[in-house]
Amino acid sequence: MALSQLQIRHFRNIETASLTPAGGLNLIYGANGSGKTSVLEAIWYLSLGRSFRTHLAPRVIQHEQPQFTLFGRLEQGDRLGIQRPREGDNDVRINGERPRRLAELAARMPLQLISPESFSLLLDGPKARREFIDWGAFHTDPQFLGVWSRYRRLLKQRNQLLRQPGAARQISVWDTQTAHYGEWLTRLRSNWVNSLNGALKGIMEPFLPDVPIRVSFSQGWDVKTPLEQLLSHNLERDIQLGYTVSGPHKADLRLRVNKLPAQDALSRGQLKLLVCALKIAQGRVLSQQQQRGCLYLVDDLASELDHGRRTLLLEQLQHTGSQVFVTAIEPEQLAMVPWGRKFHVEHGRITEQTD
Ligand SMILES: Nc1ncnc2c1ncn2[C@@H]1O[C@H](COP(=O)(O)OP(=O)(O)OP(=O)(O)O)[C@@H](O)[C@H]1O
Ligand SMILES: [Mg+2]
Repeated sequence: MALSQLQIRHFRNIETASLTPAGGLNLIYGANGSGKTSVLEAIWYLSLGRSFRTHLAPRVIQHEQPQFTLFGRLEQGDRLGIQRPREGDNDVRINGERPRRLAELAARMPLQLISPESFSLLLDGPKARREFIDWGAFHTDPQFLGVWSRYRRLLKQRNQLLRQPGAARQISVWDTQTAHYGEWLTRLRSNWVNSLNGALKGIMEPFLPDVPIRVSFSQGWDVKTPLEQLLSHNLERDIQLGYTVSGPHKADLRLRVNKLPAQDALSRGQLKLLVCALKIAQGRVLSQQQQRGCLYLVDDLASELDHGRRTLLLEQLQHTGSQVFVTAIEPEQLAMVPWGRKFHVEHGRITEQTD
């Protein structure tokens, strides 16, 4: 899976840009504030219909402009487009048609982002790690989105009922379904983590040799208790608290080094390498299971990494065979791999560089 063409108009400081990226490694370089991250943000927006930097979509529209427009062509021919006016929603097109769901965009263009903020995967609460697991389950199992949405709706309804006096009987009736979808969701997640664990062993070794990292899936409640039984057992307490305390919505990915949480055992550079290894493993399992990889966006690759680790990361990314977009201030720091294409960014203007 690769973008063979990308057009950006009135997005952040980019007035207009048209790129024909390489199928492999692409370097986007330029001074601070030139617009490098904005290029990655545009690609992300084109896949997910939102930014990774802000929840406020109008912030990404170029100042003084009424809307931005993004267009991408995938190598197998699909045409993706998004237009976003200041007032109103995303206008999404896939091959000229409005898709039924935004998720159809993401399904066509799986992305992994590695940025200086990627530590949050390990440092923040479990939500980011659940999303990390769900990314893989979503891209490899066509049933995932339906099952996940059903469980979320049922859980929301259960939490509303928990706050309604006298609704205990009604809750018990619905709990059979909640448990059915919750268990199903958990099986899909657990399958993904198993595959990921298989791939991780080989990937982790060069990044963090001699660091014994254990990755395990915590499903959100005691594995020996069927979910329906747990919900019924917890009902009184859930009513008192007004929400469902345990279940798949509390799932997590646990990363431990010598029994300590990874964030307490590793340095910042090592944490970044661990996040990179996890994200590379995601893409590798996807390409093993689907014969299509993901696209990597790597913002500020040089930050926190020494020369040897930068080289290693670039080689590993190259080895994925995926399309990769890397941003850097100084291209000389990243001359250790052959770049497919290089783009120089200056005040929002992007030009392809030929050596
Ligand atoms: N809505 C907007 N309209 C116009 N310019 C914007 C808008 N939002 C942000 N900018 C400007 O866009 C510029 C590019 O930002 P970007 O984060 O892409 O730079 P960068 O090249 O990644 O810089 P750095 O090397 O510091 O990470 C910044 O100068 C920023 O002030
Ligand atoms: Mg940047």
